[in-house]
Amino acid sequence: RKTAPNAQDIRARKGGEPLVSLTAYTTPMARLMDDHCDFVLVGDSVGMVLHGLTSTLGVTMEMMILHGQAVARGLDNAMMVVDMPFASYEHSPADAFRNAARLMAETGAGAVKLEGGVEMADTIRFLVQRGIPVMAHIGLTPQSINTLGGYKVQGRDDQGQTVLADAHAVTAAGAFAVVLEKVPQGLADRITAEIAIPTIGIGASAGCDGQILVVDDMVGFFTAFKPKFVKRYAELGQQAEAAIAEYAAEVRARSFPASEHVFADQAPVKGPKT
Ligand code: KIV
Ligand code: NA
Repeated sequence: RKTAPNAQDIRARKGGEPLVSLTAYTTPMARLMDDHCDFVLVGDSVGMVLHGLTSTLGVTMEMMILHGQAVARGLDNAMMVVDMPFASYEHSPADAFRNAARLMAETGAGAVKLEGGVEMADTIRFLVQRGIPVMAHIGLTPQSINTLGGYKVQGRDDQGQTVLADAHAVTAAGAFAVVLEKVPQGLADRITAEIAIPTIGIGASAGCDGQILVVDDMVGFFTAFKPKFVKRYAELGQQAEAAIAEYAAEVRARSFPASEHVFADQAPVKGPKT
């Protein structure tokens, strides 16, 4: 990992060319994006995208470490950020430090990401002051789905004062960047203009300092549902299913394997007939 940017490099991109990022959970997918992304997020979305969970609340430290290690093997050029899973940082700053340090030490990540604004500011400050770069995540925070009451757009009811206060709080606490998930465009643009760190939009605004998407969403591998903010750049799930169906039909018809897939005998098979 010689050429990868660090958290300060990412922070310095504020107001410049948009930062490009995607999630990844495996080595081969990380390899595909290494030359195209500034940073890659090992998101706790892994629980829903790869493990079939119905929310991110069941994701564990062990899952994040295993997927973080896999992604790290596929990256040379992009920075790796790893999500802190639910219940690994909310209880206390000291708890958060222990778990963040473990994620970084065991995966080689250059930073961690955690959800929350004003209420997490003390924790962000505690981590940053002790050497752990933190990417914040405000707006729709999926780990709080049970208190938010649904995956709805955030920052509409109070004209965005809560989300705006969160953005300022995480900036003041020392976060090097902040993800804005599912907030109205005008609010995202205002936050981007007001704070000194890059905003990374997902369902936010093209005016953000960068964008992120869940890779399985944008290539069409995860099709259980499609949020409005996802653009499908490919339909790999459909292609994969067509390939599987064709394989199944060929096996049943004995047309696979064909001659080019099998090995010729050196000599006639010897031995007694049974
Ligand atoms: O877990 C995740 O994939 C994320 C991104 C959507 C920002 O947190
Ligand atoms: Na996440």
